[in-house]
Amino acid sequence: MCGIVGYVGARECTEVLLNSLSKLEYRGYDSAGIAVFENGEIKTQKSKGKIADLVAKMDSEGKLMGHCGIGHTRWATHGEPSDINSHPHGNANVTIVHNGIIENYKKIKEFLEKKGYVFESETDTETVAKLLDCFYEGNPIATIQRVLDEVEGSYALGIMFRDYPNRIYAVRKDSPLIVAVGDDEAFIASDVPAVLKYTKKYYLLDQDEIAVLDSGRVEFFDDHGAPIKKQLLVADFDEEAAKKGNYPHYMIKEIHDQPTAIRTTITPRITDGMPDLEECGMTYDRLRDYNNIFVVACGTAMHAGLVGKYVIEKIARISVTVDVASEFRYRDPILTDKDLVILVSQSGETADTLEALRLAKRNGADTLSIVNVKGSSIARESDMVIYTHAGPEISVASTKAYMVQLSVFYLIAFALAYANDKMTAEECRRLTAQLQAVPEQIEEILKTPEDCQYVASQLVNAENLLYIGRGLDYALSMEGSLKLKEISYIHSESYAAGELKHGTISLVTDEMPVIAVATQRDLYDKTISNVKEVKARGAYVVLVTHDSKEVDNDVADCKIGLPTIDDLLMPMTAVVPLQLIAYYTSVLRGNDVDKPRKLAKSVTVE
Ligand code: M6R
Repeated sequence: MCGIVGYVGARECTEVLLNSLSKLEYRGYDSAGIAVFENGEIKTQKSKGKIADLVAKMDSEGKLMGHCGIGHTRWATHGEPSDINSHPHGNANVTIVHNGIIENYKKIKEFLEKKGYVFESETDTETVAKLLDCFYEGNPIATIQRVLDEVEGSYALGIMFRDYPNRIYAVRKDSPLIVAVGDDEAFIASDVPAVLKYTKKYYLLDQDEIAVLDSGRVEFFDDHGAPIKKQLLVADFDEEAAKKGNYPHYMIKEIHDQPTAIRTTITPRITDGMPDLEECGMTYDRLRDYNNIFVVACGTAMHAGLVGKYVIEKIARISVTVDVASEFRYRDPILTDKDLVILVSQSGETADTLEALRLAKRNGADTLSIVNVKGSSIARESDMVIYTHAGPEISVASTKAYMVQLSVFYLIAFALAYANDKMTAEECRRLTAQLQAVPEQIEEILKTPEDCQYVASQLVNAENLLYIGRGLDYALSMEGSLKLKEISYIHSESYAAGELKHGTISLVTDEMPVIAVATQRDLYDKTISNVKEVKARGAYVVLVTHDSKEVDNDVADCKIGLPTIDDLLMPMTAVVPLQLIAYYTSVLRGNDVDKPRKLAKSVTVE
């Protein structure tokens, strides 16, 4: 989604804005632009395409020179990607960058057109810029408040008024924005990695609070315009953690980060070999309270919930419903105060998941979020939060965030099973120890990526692909399929292996490779029967299973073996080859692995 940056201080601001924007590229965008105070005037440069296209424009037109400016990467929602639709928007008096969606922009536009305003772009953002100009009577804060009273929707805004050179105003509602501070300099950004080159100190802007930045000072005001004090936070990772290091892409680096991410996430939540979630409010008493559990999330985070459902239902015998957040919020779910709703999100800012959380709260359910980004909206608004400690995930394709989400689901499942007398302390300790052994196993798998590279070379020209599995393997193969399609652009679907015969097997030919996941021993023979069925119809078959399983050539063309661990935990290791296959296939197809086309890292609009 769109990225916002802003800088005021002694440095040459175009350099800072470009550097910070480059750190937000991972969010996904199709145009970029900046506005800078140059000799007291607001000057704008913007371009369709990548930041490199903007830089090329600067090289030919000349770079804007100044010490205060705002910048933006746009992910088109209203109007195609074009120079005109790119941000910043505004005029000589007031110029803005915006992330979010103004839902009533048509009404505002009609109002402004009647007043004689002429619109250049197709964006909703331009209506906010012009409304600021229209309402402005010399007091920026009062003007912003008056405008916010009129707009409906979500926004993070960086604003510059010509009358107040070298000053940035910032405000947000339902779209993330931080205010960072260094020595005599200040920044705004959509995300912390954008400013880590300069500072680790930042404030989280709350709903409808206004920040005023100039080089020596940052001030905050509440939604009534009264000054407020805010807590200064310090990022717990540095610029290095948000860099690729020696890896060619963030995705492969993040796949390799997984063992550490699991250890960092689970170690503080295990006491005497038992899961311990008290710190987040999940006491054993509370864990005995729930009749039903709902898991609500989007994309990969939802897939982590699917694994969580299988595990919780199997060992704790509590019913779990998994919903896509955009469906949950409109399907009028039946919730009571005896239900727990678990929201899962890497970014903590996904618009549909955030709204699902608010719906759950309105209906009286307890809410628990599993979130990676500290202080994000979902984390702040839920009753309880378990932070995953994956560090910054930059690649659009989520890998390590999924892995740590899984590890938290295992801890929750073990704790629920023990609290509800469905598991002895001894069994709980055994499974917790198995979970602690997973990182080492992943390290082993990562030492020999050759099989996955080989499989990728066999899949590179495929146009369609099927993933099949049963039970936990089915839940996992959904994630394998999403990973492949989002970065390789090969169409793929995941099917419950036993369901193939009910229609989909008619598609299987020698042009439809099948990746079969068979790690659950109680279901192994059944899955293998389904594998034989697709093989008999000509499919090239890759079988992901235990190292120990002998696989004949007439069952699969290629086997990827996994080390032994309790079957319940196999999704954590089995997902690694699926991630690697997706990664290497994307590389072989020459795709932009970390920034797949049309996708955004953090989906902050509905
Ligand atoms: O930040 P979130 O975890 O809420 O994001 C949810 C999805 O948008 C995300 O997992 C998406 O599906 C990933 N690109 C998948 O790799």
